[in-house]
Amino acid sequence: MSSFDNPVAAQEQPDQIRRRLVFAGLATAGLASCGGGASSMHTATVVGVLPAADPGQVLATGGGKWPTLAVLTNNAATGSFVGTLTAALATVNFIPNVATQILAYNGGTPGPVIDTYEGDSIQINFRNQLGQDSTVHWHGLPVPASQDGNPMDPVAAGAKRDYTFTLPVGSAGSYWYHPHPHDTTPEQIYRGLAGAFIVRGRNDPFAHLPERMVFITDIRLDASGQIAANTAQDLVNGREGNQVLVNGSYQPVDTVAPGTTERWRIFDATNARYTRLALDGSSMLVVALDGCTLASPRTVTELLLAPGQRADVIVRAPQSSNQKLVLRTLVYARGAMVPVSPAVRLFELSTNASTTVPAVALPNALASPVSLPAGLAVTQSVVLSDMGMGMGMAMGMGGSSQGRFTINGKVFDPGRDDITMKAGVAEEWLIQNAGMMDHPLQIHGTSFQLVASNRADIASDPRLNAFMDVVNLVSGEQIRIRLRIETPGRRMFHCHILEHEAQGMMGIINVLA
Ligand code: C2O
Ligand code: CU
Repeated sequence: MSSFDNPVAAQEQPDQIRRRLVFAGLATAGLASCGGGASSMHTATVVGVLPAADPGQVLATGGGKWPTLAVLTNNAATGSFVGTLTAALATVNFIPNVATQILAYNGGTPGPVIDTYEGDSIQINFRNQLGQDSTVHWHGLPVPASQDGNPMDPVAAGAKRDYTFTLPVGSAGSYWYHPHPHDTTPEQIYRGLAGAFIVRGRNDPFAHLPERMVFITDIRLDASGQIAANTAQDLVNGREGNQVLVNGSYQPVDTVAPGTTERWRIFDATNARYTRLALDGSSMLVVALDGCTLASPRTVTELLLAPGQRADVIVRAPQSSNQKLVLRTLVYARGAMVPVSPAVRLFELSTNASTTVPAVALPNALASPVSLPAGLAVTQSVVLSDMGMGMGMAMGMGGSSQGRFTINGKVFDPGRDDITMKAGVAEEWLIQNAGMMDHPLQIHGTSFQLVASNRADIASDPRLNAFMDVVNLVSGEQIRIRLRIETPGRRMFHCHILEHEAQGMMGIINVLA
């Protein structure tokens, strides 16, 4: 297919059609029932005004009270978790007196936190009231392939699906859940469907610390305060919203006692925004990346999360009263032709007049959850490319980006196995980014270890030797990872810039028994 067969207008059409399907869903399923779980309607969290004639921009003022996330009700006894997640249309007031239509799990965005313990058996009763196919993917969790919400396993409009799995001991960490249907994953997520999934350890070394959820999403509202559809440029670069939200709120604030030490669980749940996190005048101790504890916690002044990634960090508030601690993102350039992501303020803590809380002793070594054998031969080579035949679009010549985003030269085919490996057997893979922009690669159902990179600065990078489920590769980067998938079944691997994933930058690993 030449790029002229599929002009930009045709590219945009499926999104329009899907949007109509979504609104058809509103007519039938309506705003009525939120499933049995937690969560009341989301309250107003963004304070702002609509500019008169500047579509795509909203001037938010922030400063709202700290937004605590709803928690999914567990209807089971200790040792198991049974809850209901209903995906449906809902409205929220990001802007006073403007009802913004979103897609919500149990009525809010983010969806409720699923708060569990390792060893628990889990049953999540999913109800799809979206008016289109969906699935729920348990990002990062080692669940059986049949329960992982793969695009090949859709839950039809109006249908129900109970996902069941057991959380292995050793899986404690910060995960998340989101839809993973064919084609519509980016839109379902940017319209609001995503939530945190916490697995607590029975011997958590930080259990005594207060915990703060920092669930980062970004939205783009149009001039009427509604979530804007993707543009042709979004399909190339990935969509970044125009307001970055924490727990669904714009630049919230909170107050803590001076010297308080907290554990923050930070989630980058955006479609394509890299969050290069930094605290004004303070460092953070990174104790986990994605779901996995770091054997050697690292003190850093900044930490880059790619879309889909999480970090657990330990932070201490200033030791005197009336001081501020601000978490921001720094500017990040993810390719010569991609607009630079600007620095944004995420939230602010200020210290109150209470007595200073003494410092807390922190371990400098932690038990690593997994170890994989060294000295393996490389058995797979994975090449990411963003320079396929759809190039015309980025070059301003019109045309589609279809066929541009590939893995080993191919776009996704649900009927094809791209890689086969044996369950329970460790492998070493070579992965390279032959494209022009950054791509964050996720592998489902496991955590893999980053063991090498050709980046000059890799030795000081906290990701080196860490176990993760998403790894970012900058243009020209080559890495080696070690991985083992414990259970058989077909697993997805893909770019977590969701617009790239939906256009084919995804493959299947068939894990054989
Ligand atoms: Cu977080 Cu395969 O997606
Ligand atoms: Cu990508």
